[in-house]
Amino acid sequence: MEIRSLYFDGSILHILDQRYLPFEVIDVQCKTECDVWEAINKMKIRGAPAIGVAAAYGMYLGLRNFEGSTETFIQKAKELKDYLDSARPTAVNLAWATKRILDKILSNGEKSPEELKQIALIEAKNIENEDIERNFKIGEFGSELFTDGDTIMTICNTGELATIKHGTAFSVIKRSFEKYKNISVIALETRPYLQGARLTAFELKEAGIPFRLITDNMAAFVMQKGLVSGIVTGADRIASNGDTANKVGTYMLAVLAHYHKIPFYVAAPLSTIDLNIESGKEIPIEERNSDEVTHCMGQRIAPNGVEVYNFSFDVTPHELITGIITDKGIAYPPFKKSIKKLFEF
Ligand code: MRU
Repeated sequence: MEIRSLYFDGSILHILDQRYLPFEVIDVQCKTECDVWEAINKMKIRGAPAIGVAAAYGMYLGLRNFEGSTETFIQKAKELKDYLDSARPTAVNLAWATKRILDKILSNGEKSPEELKQIALIEAKNIENEDIERNFKIGEFGSELFTDGDTIMTICNTGELATIKHGTAFSVIKRSFEKYKNISVIALETRPYLQGARLTAFELKEAGIPFRLITDNMAAFVMQKGLVSGIVTGADRIASNGDTANKVGTYMLAVLAHYHKIPFYVAAPLSTIDLNIESGKEIPIEERNSDEVTHCMGQRIAPNGVEVYNFSFDVTPHELITGIITDKGIAYPPFKKSIKKLFEF
């Protein structure tokens, strides 16, 4: 079965509704920027690279029916960017993608609105296609870190569903499996949204990669038992010093990996690196609805009226990261220097 997080048919942006996977396949049809905002905000589509691509098409959908002068078109594009960026705050790929569309429009400011609409669409397609190539390279570089017989631990979902193709940390796993054959995975279920149990387990199964699913609170014990060779996670935003925001629970894994002397890697395209911020302290961390904690798969599991924390992401300090696998190669500490270097070629 081909898994496709989204595709644009020339008129409608189709999004595979990830809230119902793996049980139901529901096609969400986005015709306006509001549909795209809603799909990202409600996590019908999720994963940093995938929401970036969706937002890029959201820019086009919001501009395609525009009538008026180039000046007001540009004003509208700026407002659209702010609107779409507000759908989810942590993954920088979203604002990165909308900025690419806006920058393209601004650098063609002498053209007519009709021409600018086409320019926006072409740039959205470019962002989509580049994602495939970038993720493939992440898999190539990352698979060099593993060998036959390894068991790789991962959290959340970083596969085809979180991207356009290949995935990020998932691409490293898949390429390692293709190269060495004897590779297995330990996937954390990833409460509260269960990206690990519902989505990663589904993708690993489809790919024929041997794996075990564990509850999040089992991570320490399986490491203590010597069942983990290395950890690879995705990222939603990486600061210029290497501090990394990713799905809540990632920091816990990095601390545990340090204690158990297990290598801890982050895999992400350069579009996830935010050079505008110095450290993880500046990364906005999304807090989601309390229902996600008090309920599981639509069932209430906590008493009425309890107060919760529902931080959707956490920040892993760079000191705990062994290496950052990107589409331009692997960055090692000191990250301030090695990350800067990745952008130089
Ligand atoms: O809340 P989500 O499901 O959008 O969070 C996703 C993650 O944290 C992923 O690890 C990250 O976006 C990288 S996906 C290739």
